Amino acid sequence: MAKNLVIYYSRKGQNYVNGTIKNLEKGNTQIVAEYIRDAAGADLFELETVKEYSTDYMVCTEEAQEELRAKARPELKQYPGSVAGYDNIVIAGPCWWGTYPMAVFSALDRLDFTGKKVFPVMTHEGSGLSGAAQSLKKSCKGAVVGSGLAVQGARAAASQKEVSAWAVKNLK
Ligand SMILES: Cc1cc2nc3c(=O)[nH]c(=O)nc-3n(C[C@H](O)[C@H](O)[C@H](O)COP(=O)(O)O)c2cc1C
Repeated sequence: MAKNLVIYYSRKGQNYVNGTIKNLEKGNTQIVAEYIRDAAGADLFELETVKEYSTDYMVCTEEAQEELRAKARPELKQYPGSVAGYDNIVIAGPCWWGTYPMAVFSALDRLDFTGKKVFPVMTHEGSGLSGAAQSLKKSCKGAVVGSGLAVQGARAAASQKEVSAWAVKNLK
């Protein structure tokens, strides 16, 4: 059986859900990451930044835009040590301005993906997978990028069936 790892970033707090701002106890991407784990068997690694983003949605969008512009690599509380023991690595995160939050690249930059298969998974409010696959092609050198999965954030809790089907099909 393949060894699977899900590396994910997910932000709790205020978020934009179907046109209104709501407070989320658990981030949308975390919900999806857990569905993948439950369906295909996977270890989870959550990326957390040392400096937290604002819980205020609008302020956070500005912070994220500034980090994207600066190609920032925010410091993480913990970095995944190595992916050597895994066959498939899912990189899951919210769409922030058309790509992953910069915190995801803080982790990817330090890993050796040679010979691995990586899969983009993104939650979003309309942009779909956006630039996720291209970002992984650039950041995960030596890896094959498999087919990705986009889940609308507002539907994350209700997405177990489609997420499980994707995981069972691809993570083998
Ligand atoms: C800083 C920021 C930027 C965002 N940019 C986009 C975007 O460009 N396109 C989009 O469809 N959704 C965007 N969203 C919505 C999130 O991608 C969506 O709510 C996602 O499910 C949040 O996942 P999380 O709860 O795991 O953090 C943005 C949200 C934030 C906080």
